[in-house]
Amino acid sequence: MNNYDQLKNIYKIIHLDEVDSTNDYAKKLINNYELPTLIYANYQTSGKGRMGRTFLSNKDKGIYMSILFKPDFSLDKINKITGYTSCIVAEEIDKISGLNTYIKWVNDIYINNLKVCGILTESVIKNEECYIIVGIGINVHSQTFNELHDIATSIEDNANIKIDKFELIHNIALAFYNNLNQINTKEYIKVYVEKSNVIGKNVELLIGDKIVKGKCVNINDDGELVVFDGIQNQIIYSGYITKVKIQDE
Ligand code: BTN
Repeated sequence: MNNYDQLKNIYKIIHLDEVDSTNDYAKKLINNYELPTLIYANYQTSGKGRMGRTFLSNKDKGIYMSILFKPDFSLDKINKITGYTSCIVAEEIDKISGLNTYIKWVNDIYINNLKVCGILTESVIKNEECYIIVGIGINVHSQTFNELHDIATSIEDNANIKIDKFELIHNIALAFYNNLNQINTKEYIKVYVEKSNVIGKNVELLIGDKIVKGKCVNINDDGELVVFDGIQNQIIYSGYITKVKIQDE
């Protein structure tokens, strides 16, 4: 069975030419939810990023996809979904491109100091059921980033090969579904630590209106950042962080 046939056995698949945001489209499907759903679009007119930002979604140049599913695990693990997804996506980009991407805290994927992918996870509670929408935006083909040119890049700007966008979407969606049961395991945290660029670095974290400065000494088994602030280790859960500045970069 090829990847697409496997996907069809897992997901309801919706491919759109144009949409405002695949995450917002997914939210509207919750009323008629039957199966995990994979939505992807060639173009988004209002791609959304974290913290109310927009996500540049140039036509036919990137992957704009959302996975809508109903988790069958407890709420404490839901917080880990974005970290888990960033590991899956980083690994699949590496496999298809030969590049070595890394996860810049909290959960953006970078190549050579430039952002190639962002992830936006949203949850919706309806009739006491919890639904998760994981939105993934990847810059795949070379394109004009305009004012973002010194912070964004694409896979093809860094790899010497043409990337088949649909193959990458299928690989990510398949790996995402097939490994979900590992979300709370040490194996997954190991990949997260290996791929993260914060350990050993001096960081400045904005948590609400509070700033924590210190040296990041570890990511613990729960995926939280351990930061030595000069006096003691502080354990910081990624969901509370609004901004991360890595001072050694
Ligand atoms: C970020 O960089 O802050 C997160 C960006 C997430 C972008 C993806 S593209 C597909 C999905 N639909 C959206 O509107 N946003 C996410």
